[in-house]
Amino acid sequence: MRIVFILGSLVLFISCGQKKIQPTGVVSKNAMVVSAREEASKIGLEILKQGGNAFDAMVATELALAVAYPFAGNLGGGGFMVYRKNDGSIGALDYREKAPIAAKRDMYLDSLGNVIPGKSIYGGLSIGVPGTIAGVFETHRAFGSLPIKEIIAPIIELAETGVVVTKKQALRLEKYREAILRETGEQTHFYNQCIEGDTLRYQALAETLKQISKEGLGGFYEGPVADKLVDFIQDKGGIITKKDLLSYNAAWRQPVVFNYKDLKLISMSPPSSGGVTLYQMFKMMEPYKLSDYGHNSQKYVQLFTEAARRAYADRNYFLGDPDFVDIPLDVLLTKSYVENRMDNFSFDKATSSSDIGHGQIKIMESQETTHYSIVDKEGNAVSVTTTLNGAYGSKIYCDELGFFLNNEMDDFSAKPGAPNMFGLTGAEANSIAPGKRMLSSMTPTIVEKDDQLYMVVGSPGGSTIITAVAQTIMNVYEFDLSMQEAVNAPRLHHQWKPDYIIFETEGFSEDLKDGLKSVGYKINTDPTPILGKVDAIKVLVNGSLEGGADKRGDDTAVGY
Ligand code: DON
Repeated sequence: MRIVFILGSLVLFISCGQKKIQPTGVVSKNAMVVSAREEASKIGLEILKQGGNAFDAMVATELALAVAYPFAGNLGGGGFMVYRKNDGSIGALDYREKAPIAAKRDMYLDSLGNVIPGKSIYGGLSIGVPGTIAGVFETHRAFGSLPIKEIIAPIIELAETGVVVTKKQALRLEKYREAILRETGEQTHFYNQCIEGDTLRYQALAETLKQISKEGLGGFYEGPVADKLVDFIQDKGGIITKKDLLSYNAAWRQPVVFNYKDLKLISMSPPSSGGVTLYQMFKMMEPYKLSDYGHNSQKYVQLFTEAARRAYADRNYFLGDPDFVDIPLDVLLTKSYVENRMDNFSFDKATSSSDIGHGQIKIMESQETTHYSIVDKEGNAVSVTTTLNGAYGSKIYCDELGFFLNNEMDDFSAKPGAPNMFGLTGAEANSIAPGKRMLSSMTPTIVEKDDQLYMVVGSPGGSTIITAVAQTIMNVYEFDLSMQEAVNAPRLHHQWKPDYIIFETEGFSEDLKDGLKSVGYKINTDPTPILGKVDAIKVLVNGSLEGGADKRGDDTAVGY
């Protein structure tokens, strides 16, 4: 009898395909929010407790981050959401910034055709038309259940009562204070030095939020807020007009969906490169037994690097805004094409990025950051990455309205082959055009296992977002780390060009690096304290949720 029971348990254990991995992060039974700030996670969770769903909590968390985490949370930026409802239906919302109507292909070049350093990063010309408010209203219109006013009320209160400055935030504000003063002027809210424990109140932002709460979408894209915003941006040398704001729209997209072994990944499609690049990397690695190599072993690092090298080469060449360019997704997302790209890979010798171009795809002539994860008690999941691009975006803070403006225009390819601030080189597909969206690396992702929700994951980090997300999923699935361990584990990065591996300062041995060098890998020796900042949720075997809140920031998982 006992033997039958043990055998039975064993069969059940194996057939479920689940190994016993002890959670080490926050565990909750019903619902969870993981974001870059405790205040934002708590406001999102409060909405869930009041009976709101994951989409209501998305609105709340997104706007709360604009108050509590102005480093990346925003009203003046944009983002992407991938969702999976509890009935298995999926979708993706693109609320990425757009180039202003007056934008020109060569707007960052001098008369000799050279890129003018800094022009796409600082000043009014670096600002793309903001999409965040359109994103939250579209999410709410499609799936929200609580009245928008009820969702925004606690955020207005947070802006008025203020947010206590953390140690990490004080350091960040100090690091960028000079640039903020230079770009915004000395009259700004951020003039005074902040120290840990100070309370920052945002009365102007509270007033803007009141306007939005009262007027809806028109409270931002029309009327007094829009008037002030346009005047302010133009004053700073920008070219955004009222027409740009009025014509902005968030767009629903088909997410990129694919299997990796027995997982199903659902990730962001263009104009983000996240899903396509993730697809290529995972498919290049799928034929190998990663778990046998060991976590962050030399063989794993080699395989991961070579997959990233090839996938980023394609990313940079083929991808852009699908509303403007024809992307050969039918080939880029094909297993045989991707596997062929690994034909010249060997564990004996590093491939050189100069030997790797984009894949040869025949195109018909006529065709031309911060992340948060939410699961509600019904099992609806949203994965959202939102950004101003650089730290505090363009560093231009609109004091009258209470928020920073993005510098997302730098994500365009100012000139084919010229690197942007993340060292990414782009091509024709990502050239500037009026109303076009700049290519992104944001990779909000949801993972299913056995047709059930398994993981919600994403990260900030510019070009390193995609590799951070890929490693986190691999850490859980291939290397049996808990969600929290997977998020905290040391990370590496490679992006084709420049041709070197970047390792986080902590967590990779000299032996590993020597081994890699001996087979021809170049390693960046500049100290890189952190790569990405992942906030994720995993569904445990018993249905509870484990949060993975990145130790690299003030990130916090809360649940009930
Ligand atoms: O969309 C992108 O790929 C970038 N604008 C993201 C910027 C970012 O993650 C900044 N964080 N380090």
